[in-house]
Amino acid sequence: MLMKTCTPSSVLLVCLGNICRSPTAEEVFRQQAAIAGLSIKVDSAGTGDWHIGHAPDERAQRHAKSHGYKINKLVARQVSTDDFREFDLILAMDAQNLADLQAIKDSLADTEDHLAKLALFSEEDPTYSGDDVPDPYKGDSDDFEEVIERIESSAQAWIESWKAC
Ligand code: 4NP
Repeated sequence: MLMKTCTPSSVLLVCLGNICRSPTAEEVFRQQAAIAGLSIKVDSAGTGDWHIGHAPDERAQRHAKSHGYKINKLVARQVSTDDFREFDLILAMDAQNLADLQAIKDSLADTEDHLAKLALFSEEDPTYSGDDVPDPYKGDSDDFEEVIERIESSAQAWIESWKAC
């Protein structure tokens, strides 16, 4: 029998700036987990420090709102070493984010044995498996729509995989 990973108690969504993709993913994940009846702590952060303390990008707010996700109250923060101790699972929006997270984890691994599992956000998604959620920051409206589409699909795939556990 295939062993599935059971529902984590906490998930951190990570992108570069924490103002476009990961705050959107945070709210999508929170809503989908609630609908599925899963009790999971959900948060988001960025690998970069440029937008610490900022609200999500106006375009991300607008596109999220049009799909029923209210993200205007979220505040950007940078991922910290404590996140690797406090979260069960850290999901990276793209391959560069994953590499940056892996480097932080590697710097801690010699001294600690219980650190967050890392994965690409698309990992469980049969439609987008292995793909990045492309950075929309320098993009247009279609790019922000694509972010929502991919995030909804890949978040649902994680939740389905846990429900089957
Ligand atoms: P995010 O998008 O990683 O989805 O939040 C970006 C936001 C800001 C920048 C890059 C990506 N930036 O270079 O400031």
